[in-house]
Amino acid sequence: MSAQIEHAVALLRAGELIGLPTETVYGLAGAARQPEAIAKIFALKQRPASHPLIVHLHDPAQMDDWARDISPLARDLAARYWPGPLTLVLRRQANVLDALTGGQDTIALRVPAHPIALAVLKAFADGVAAPSANRYQRVSPTTAEHVRAEFGSALKLVLDGGPSEVGIESSIVDLSGERPRILRLGMLHAHDFGRLAAHSDIRVPGSDARHYAPEHPTALIAAEHWIAHLQSLTLSGTRFASLAYQPAPGALQALEASSDALEYAQALYANLHVLSGLDVDLIAIEAPPESPEWAAINDRLRRASG
Ligand code: TXA
Ligand code: MG
Repeated sequence: MSAQIEHAVALLRAGELIGLPTETVYGLAGAARQPEAIAKIFALKQRPASHPLIVHLHDPAQMDDWARDISPLARDLAARYWPGPLTLVLRRQANVLDALTGGQDTIALRVPAHPIALAVLKAFADGVAAPSANRYQRVSPTTAEHVRAEFGSALKLVLDGGPSEVGIESSIVDLSGERPRILRLGMLHAHDFGRLAAHSDIRVPGSDARHYAPEHPTALIAAEHWIAHLQSLTLSGTRFASLAYQPAPGALQALEASSDALEYAQALYANLHVLSGLDVDLIAIEAPPESPEWAAINDRLRRASG
């Protein structure tokens, strides 16, 4: 085991938090069975206690330590997609900390597909709670640098696993009730969830319409209105930066959007972090296509501009 992994595990055992790379976004990780660690996560993120955390595991067989009444569909999805960007919400075991679940009778579980995360989880040998490593309602981190910029000296260790490959948070499917429900769209959804989606109510968390928000007001603009909209911004003296497929006349900085959904998602939060750091009045984003592989991206963009 590398010295870094050993250090990470020692910190987790001591009830400390670390920055943990995953394939979706970086997590703010703490021991899921230690109440002090969970309390630190909520405090550092400034997150309301009613927003439960995802417990990360290294092996699907650990599901039974956390959840009960696991349906064949849940076992199927776990076998098929873990490690990967899928979170399953299941009925929880009685010994799961209330603080983790917001007092709900369910628990969210995921096995992340990142070698460093898996090495830490395997060496730690128990569940690790990890929300995205950003303050409440801010843009999620996809690099170790984003995590350091957000939490600085509050973290003794941020493991650097390179830029997150998926780039947006995991898909969340609730299998605790009668019918599966998709609670959050992720990039997995784009490719594989068509059939499941047809059988579920899509209830993307609506309680916080503004979420994943950059520092500046953000406008999502349809392709056909792009040029006219930018002209009116320029006329009104609005200083703006942009993320778009088309050229962006008048933008202080113009980032080029990828027409490949996987690449667009991978770069999305890094792009929003760059645009957030600029001295502008507005971030202008050209709306991507509406086809299914863009659904998770459009969801995040709507929230960012909400
Ligand atoms: O990709 C991800 O899922 C990342 C990486 C670090 O794994 N984590 C992440 O965690 O996005 P967080 O805390 O930022 O988002 C977790 C979402 C929240 O919207 C929360 O409300 C929901 O999962 N959630 C957690 N437990 C739940 C439960 N028992 N029932 C319903 N929703 C739950
Ligand atoms: Mg988050």
